[in-house]
Amino acid sequence: MAKLNIIVGTMYGGALDVAEQVKPLFENVGYEVDIIEQPSVDHLQADLVLFCVSTTGSGDFPGNLVPFVRALSAQSPALTELRYGLIAMGDSSYGDTFCGAGRKLDELLQDLGATRLDERLEIDAMETFMADDAALPWVEAWIERQALSGV
Ligand SMILES: Cc1cc2nc3c(=O)[nH]c(=O)nc-3n(C[C@H](O)[C@H](O)[C@H](O)COP(=O)(O)O)c2cc1C
Repeated sequence: MAKLNIIVGTMYGGALDVAEQVKPLFENVGYEVDIIEQPSVDHLQADLVLFCVSTTGSGDFPGNLVPFVRALSAQSPALTELRYGLIAMGDSSYGDTFCGAGRKLDELLQDLGATRLDERLEIDAMETFMADDAALPWVEAWIERQALSGV
């Protein structure tokens, strides 16, 4: 069975909630899914990785993700095998730092050679009261577009 790790970066649980809501969509198409809240670089060794990452401070990573990002930056592993998707959560009232953590992580992963499948989803708390309302249809379409089913 193909393996999907959903790596979560959250302060208040919104990104974790999104991860829990989308998990069954992947299970329905044959993935074994783990939600990871204390990720290490080893968790990138899966058939597919989905990041659900909110932003705190001034474009900063949520605390639970900081050791992971530090390890990635310090070790600079070659991630040429990694295929990933990324859901960034933020609030456009923060201006320039909107979805800053998700954007920075995306850049770092690509610098390390990883391949993002499709565009990043950015969920704006100013526009979307329930993040799931944006995340669920996006993930459904993502699975379809990237032909991720049937594994
Ligand atoms: C103290 C604080 C700082 C924040 N800073 C930013 C920011 O710089 N950029 C941004 O896009 N959103 C920012 N946000 C908004 C959160 O990213 C957004 O509300 C997100 O949905 C929270 O997700 P979570 O429940 O997973 O922590 C901030 C929120 C708080 C409470």
